[in-house]
Amino acid sequence: MPDLLVNLLNLPELESFVDGLNHVGVRIRRAQPFEITPVREFIKDNFSAAWADEVSVGFANKPVTLFIATRDARVIGFAGYECTRKAFFGPTGVAEKERGRGIGKALLIASLWGLRELGYVYGIIGAAGPFEFYRDAVGAIVIPDSEPGIYADLLK
Ligand SMILES: CC(C)(COP(=O)(O)OP(=O)(O)OC[C@H]1O[C@@H](n2cnc3c(N)ncnc32)[C@H](O)[C@@H]1OP(=O)(O)O)[C@@H](O)C(=O)NCCC(=O)NCCS
Repeated sequence: MPDLLVNLLNLPELESFVDGLNHVGVRIRRAQPFEITPVREFIKDNFSAAWADEVSVGFANKPVTLFIATRDARVIGFAGYECTRKAFFGPTGVAEKERGRGIGKALLIASLWGLRELGYVYGIIGAAGPFEFYRDAVGAIVIPDSEPGIYADLLK
């Protein structure tokens, strides 16, 4: 899977995505350090221990470089940035039964604004799975010759 590049100067406004979800009971907000356990457990249960490890780095940043989606005070999605490498977006995921409602896109846009606020002009999506999702949401393009990227030498 290749890395993707996103121009952070052309990001959509975040507010309407967050407000729209708020109306249907989903909150998009920055994670807090005292939520490390439930967030990591959500990621381990729904995705992988490796992704939970990656977001631990985001929890060590101040402000925390991780957005979460919540419903009824439970985590239903997450997106990290500046976790795995500088200027990187990810990992990200939404609980299976909550997909297709705009949550992943809102988390993505919130995180990319976070990267822009750190001073970056371009963001990198490392080893992107669903390319069309990133292309359609934020105009991401494939970085030529970016495979294998940083995940080439994974421990088993
Ligand atoms: C990728 C993921 C985070 C998207 O979350 P989501 O909440 O379902 O996405 P959204 O509802 O915000 O989708 C926004 C748009 O992208 C489209 N889209 C969503 N997932 C897509 C996919 N896998 N491939 C192509 N398009 C996709 C939606 O149809 C929607 O289109 P629309 O704006 O025309 O309606 C979610 O599918 C997921 O958790 N996947 C498993 C983990 C994963 O692959 N993470 C990324 C690793 S790089």
